Parts: sequence; structure tokens; C-alpha cells
Amino acid sequence: GRVAVLLGGTSSEREVSLDSGRNVIAALRARGVDAVAVDGIPALALALVEKRFDRVFNILHGHNGGGEDGIVQGLMDAFGVPYTGSKVLGSALSMDKIRTKQVWLSLGLPTPRYVKLVEGVEVHAAAAELGLPVVVKPANEGSSVGISRVSDDAGLDDAVALAARYDGQLLMEQMVVGDELTVAILGDQALPSIRIVPKGQWYDYNAKYIAEDTQYLCPGLDGDDEAEIRRIALAAFQAAGCHGWGRVDVMRDRDSGRFYLLEVNTAPGMTSHSLVPKAAAQAGIGFEELVWRVLEQTLP
Ligand code: DAL
Ligand code: MG
Repeated sequence: GRVAVLLGGTSSEREVSLDSGRNVIAALRARGVDAVAVDGIPALALALVEKRFDRVFNILHGHNGGGEDGIVQGLMDAFGVPYTGSKVLGSALSMDKIRTKQVWLSLGLPTPRYVKLVEGVEVHAAAAELGLPVVVKPANEGSSVGISRVSDDAGLDDAVALAARYDGQLLMEQMVVGDELTVAILGDQALPSIRIVPKGQWYDYNAKYIAEDTQYLCPGLDGDDEAEIRRIALAAFQAAGCHGWGRVDVMRDRDSGRFYLLEVNTAPGMTSHSLVPKAAAQAGIGFEELVWRVLEQTLP
């Protein structure tokens, strides 16, 4: 049957999603699938009413009209149309970095210490308690949008103001100094980890999608360390109620060697710069095959 590839939308990650979606459509068509682009949730709602397709490949990133926060999952469930990736609960929880951390902490899974920035919390006192450097983030965002690393007390107010432009809920996290890693999940397996080495100081929006000199090492670790990061990433993904495929971002402290979970991405990027396709390639799974395996999960 026909497959709707849900992409675009109105989130801050619209351009990334259009790029991911183009690649997914090309891969599906190369496999003989009748795949059509559907841009955003209102267009999907109309297509659902008109029964224009049988299943949905969700590559709509982000929230606020993105497809990673559980809203569109509820819509698709209401119509009984199968779709790729996490369901309502896993999507909604993973979009909220604070509540995801609360679940992980309750299960003994490691994540950096943090303070939720609500009214009455004084940001300078919070930073002093966590110890600089800290990371200030919108609780619900993607692609590093609105995130600042702050190593100097004087930078805190600007960091909070920037994050507040993207979300009403903010968090301040202790910054783990060390390696930035990520683990792609496909089905019930963790793929080889990737260690990201940006040319600049941070793996920010520019290093993610624009720079050509970001280095990716895959597998990112070896021996027991690689086994351990895959184990905690898969546990973190499952603890967050996620399903099908995704990507778990992890930091490794330079001094202690310990891992700290940052977040789960439930519709991870599939651009030419993106991480899940690189991990799959290392596992011997080409891009077309990767897209097919994700879609296959919606088949009866
Ligand atoms: N939020 C972007 C799309 C990612 O995680 O790949
Ligand atoms: Mg993310």
C-alpha cells in the first residue's frame, strides 16, 4: 500500500526534517514503495480523513508542529493507521528532557545532575550549586536549538534568555566534560556507538548539519566500554517507553570514564550528515535497508 512520509512541519527543525524526509522518500521509492510526502500535521489529518495511505513513516522532527512529542502519534492511533517509531508515551516523555531524566534517575540510570529553572529558582545560585560549567537548555527542543554552554557566571542570564525563546520549561545541567557519543537503536538492538569530534568546540547546529569537518568515529569505543554504552543506551530507550528506532545521546566524563545519558531522539535525523545512518552503515546496514527496516516495523 501507499506510505505517507510525514515531514516538514512548523518546528524549529523544519529544514532538517525536509532534508531527512527527502532521503527517506528516495530510499523507499528505490525499494519499490509508493511513498508520498506529507508536510505537517494538518496535511496529515486531512489525508487520514480521506484515507489516502495505509501507513506513515514519521520523519517529522521536533515539537510545536513537529512529530516527536506524541501529538501526531495520538492522531494516528485514533485513525488506527500504523506508523514508524515510538508511540504516544515514549514520544511525549522523550521530548521532555526533565521528565526523561526523572525516569532514568528513578531506575538508577546515569544522567547529569540538573536544576529545573522555574520561578523562584535563582540561576546564579543554581549554577553555583551544580558547579560551572553548566549547560542551559529548553526542556523541549532538538538539534541543539536554544542550548548554551556556560563556563562563566556572567554568561548565565543570556543563556537563560536564549533558551526561554524556545520553551517555557528550562533546565540547567551540570556539563560533563569529555566525549560526546550517541547510540542508534534499531528494533531491540543498539547499533555501534559513534563518537563525535567537532572541529569547533561544540557539536552544535552548525557542526551537526553544515560543517563538513565534524569527525565521526564508529564504533566510538572498544571492548567493554562499547558493550557498556550500548547496554545503558538500550536500557534508557526502553525505560523511556520508546519503540522501533531512535537515538540516545550520551556523554562520557573524561576523568572518571563514566557515562551520562542526555536524551532520546524518537525521530532522529536522516540527513547526509546524520548519525543513525552512519551507525547503521558500520553495522553493515545501508541507508535503503535502514529505512526499509524501520518501515517494516509497521507491517502486520
Ligand atoms: N533532532 C535531530 C533531528 C536529531 O536528533 O537527529
Ligand atoms: Mg535531540
